[in-house]
Amino acid sequence: MNRRLALSTLTTAALLSLAAPFAFAADGPFKIGFILPMTGQSASTGKQIEAAVKLWQAQNGTTVAGRKVEVIVKDDAGVADTTRRIAQEMVVNDKIDVLAGFGLTPLAFATAPIATQSKTPMVVTAAATSAITEQSPYIVRTSFTLPQVSVSIAEWAAKHGIKSVVTFVADYGPGIDAEKFFKSQFQLNGGKIAGEIRSPLRSPDFAPFLQKVADLKPDAVFVFLPSGQGAAFMKQFGERGLDKSGIKLIATGDVVDDDQLNDIGDVALGVVNSHHYSAAHPSPLNKKFIAAFEAANKFRPNFMAVAGYDGMHLIYNALAATKGQGGGDALLAAMKGQIFESPRGQILIDAQTRDIVQDVYIRKVERVPAMGNQLYNVEFDVQKAVKDPAKLK
Ligand code: DHB
Repeated sequence: MNRRLALSTLTTAALLSLAAPFAFAADGPFKIGFILPMTGQSASTGKQIEAAVKLWQAQNGTTVAGRKVEVIVKDDAGVADTTRRIAQEMVVNDKIDVLAGFGLTPLAFATAPIATQSKTPMVVTAAATSAITEQSPYIVRTSFTLPQVSVSIAEWAAKHGIKSVVTFVADYGPGIDAEKFFKSQFQLNGGKIAGEIRSPLRSPDFAPFLQKVADLKPDAVFVFLPSGQGAAFMKQFGERGLDKSGIKLIATGDVVDDDQLNDIGDVALGVVNSHHYSAAHPSPLNKKFIAAFEAANKFRPNFMAVAGYDGMHLIYNALAATKGQGGGDALLAAMKGQIFESPRGQILIDAQTRDIVQDVYIRKVERVPAMGNQLYNVEFDVQKAVKDPAKLK
C-alpha cells in the first residue's frame, strides 16, 4: 500500500497554495470535510456518521466562538483512490480546515500523506487498525482500535471455561490486528488457538470458512468482521447449524452491531462480545443521545454514529480553544489531551499517540423487555480507560 501511496502526488501548484499563509483565512466559515462511504458495502457507516454529525449541529449550533461552521460530506464509496482524490480537492479547492470520517482502514491510509503535507488535522471517526494514527502526525482518532477491544474478550473467554478457539477475521488491517491481539492475550491466559481463518473483505462467502470452523470443533470461534457484514455472517452461522453445534460464538461488537442487531434476530441471543459502545449503555447522557437520534432518524445509532458525534465534539472544542481562529497546528494542539463525556462513557485523546483511551465493555446480546423487547448488547463487565495495547511500549 505504501508504494502506491508514494505514487500519489499533489501538483506543485496545489502544494504552493497549501503553503500560502492566508490558507487559514479566519473570516470565512470554518469548514469540516467529511469523507464517508455513503454507497457500497460500507454505506451503513456513512449513514450512521452523517446522521450523528447532523444531530451534533442540531444540538450545538453551527457557530463556534463567533465563527460559522460548515460541514461538507462527500461519498468515496469505500474506494481508497476516491478518498484520496476527494481529500485533495477538499484541501486545495474547498480550503477545508479539518478532514474527517474514513470508513475503512485503507481509506485512512490513502489520505494520511495529504494531511501531513497540508498540515490539516485528520479526525478518524471510523477506521480502527491500530497503525492508522502512526501514518501522519495530524491524525487524531475518536473511534477505537481492534487491539483495544480484542484483548478484553480474549481474557473473558479464557476465564470462562473456553480452552480452544478458532479465530475468524476479515483479511485486512483491523482483522489482522484482532487476530494477533486476541491470540496473544488468550494464549497468555492459557488458551489454545485451534485455527486461524481469514475471509476476503469484499463480498465474502462465509460458508466454506464456517465449514472449516465446524470441522475444527473448537470450544469457541472468535469473530471480527467490519460493520455491515455481521447480519450476513450470523445468517449463515445459523443456517449451517453452528449456533446449535456446541461451538460458542464470541466476537468484537462489530459483528453484533446495533445497526443490524434487530435484523439479525434470535440467532444472536447470548453472543458474548466486547466493544466500546452499546446503544443500551445506561448513562443519562447516552439515554438523551439515543432519544434525540431516534427522533431524528428511523434507525438506532451504532458505534460509528457515536464516534462521528464525538469527532464533532472534539473539533468544536478545538475551534473554541483557538477562539475561532483555527489553523492546523493550533487545532491539533487543542485536540491532544482532550477529555470529555461521550455517550459511551468518558473518553480521552492521548496527547502522545493522538489515539483514543476509553472503557471497553463485555456485553451479551439479550432481548430487553424494558426497551421495547428489542435485541441489545447488555453490558455486564468493564475494563476502565483502556489504551491501545499496540501502543503500550
Ligand atoms: C474498520 C471498519 C469497520 O466497519 C469496523 O467495524 C472496524 C474497522 C476498518 O476498516 O478499520
